[in-house]
Amino acid sequence: MTRSSGSALKRVEAVRRGLERVDAAAAVFGLSSNLRYLTGFTDEPGERLLCLIVGREAESTFVVPELYADEVRARASGIATRVWSDGENPAALLSDVAGGLANRTGRILIDDTLWTTFALTVQNAFPDRGFGLVSEVTGELRMRKDEDEIGAMKRAGEIADRAYFAVTSRTVTGLSEIELAGRLEAEMLAAGAEGVAFQTLVASGPNSALPHHRAGPRRIEAGDIVILDFGCRVGGYCSDVSRTVVCGEANPELLKVHEAVRRAHAAARDAARIGVTAEAVDRAARDVLGEEGYGDRFVHRTGHGIGLDVHEPPYIVEGNERRLEQGMTFSIEPGTYFPGRFGVRIEDVVAVTEEGTLAMTRAPHELRCVA
Ligand code: CO
Repeated sequence: MTRSSGSALKRVEAVRRGLERVDAAAAVFGLSSNLRYLTGFTDEPGERLLCLIVGREAESTFVVPELYADEVRARASGIATRVWSDGENPAALLSDVAGGLANRTGRILIDDTLWTTFALTVQNAFPDRGFGLVSEVTGELRMRKDEDEIGAMKRAGEIADRAYFAVTSRTVTGLSEIELAGRLEAEMLAAGAEGVAFQTLVASGPNSALPHHRAGPRRIEAGDIVILDFGCRVGGYCSDVSRTVVCGEANPELLKVHEAVRRAHAAARDAARIGVTAEAVDRAARDVLGEEGYGDRFVHRTGHGIGLDVHEPPYIVEGNERRLEQGMTFSIEPGTYFPGRFGVRIEDVVAVTEEGTLAMTRAPHELRCVA
């Protein structure tokens, strides 16, 4: 999403207020989803130091390699920039900016995913300070999505749905997992996605029992159960959907397990309401699978928050007493896995609304038999 510099300044100001709340002096952001959230500016992190320092006393400065300078100025026109050129040492520049902050003693929050090499540079630039993570502040800001963010996620979900129908309407038996993953990804890109949200998972036959099997050279055979777990990005925002299909006819055991997972998903979805804890949603799914005797086969949490990152708070997991609020977005993805044999998972991303939840993907949950 292209964010105007006006909304960039609004979000930077929200970080500044967050610094007051958690009693920190400044936050240092690198090339990350946090920086994208604040300014719309994004790129793969690289070896050149690029950071945004947000000070508690309303001071913000971008330390920028020369080749990014124009783009950063366009994105965040209200923020001061200090530019360094290849051949110069950015650490001295960062120390200079650090020395100019009004608050001389408070803690410095460092972007959670900042490369260690830069985190050490930041620590050197702020001698005798305590350090923390910017998620103390950004976690709260990013957890509740606004209308634009949810709009992007809906679009990313629609594209994933289309790719699912397109790919499963054609013969998949005989394809390698990698080929099938490639088809899903090509469909999403053709439908307007800016990229994949994460490396597409295609887990066929016994591989479907491995919850995080990616996609490998195995060829899909008649009778295989296949888990497809994929998503794309629109405006930086992710979709994430899983469906389990069978090549040919389903046997009674698969039908029974699939129905249990489908009911677990529905129970979690029904439980997800404003004011309900994240762990209660997890428990709703877990109770269904437990009653069916599959409790010990559900080897992961029920879901994860999602937005600019595929995995972010709130986590739908036992022990998370966080209460759901309107605008929170997370996956519901119960699964049941039988090592060496097969697995089943059904996943949608939902947004918490006044009425309950809204699913970003609409592909039916019924077991789909494919050719
Ligand atoms: Co997921």
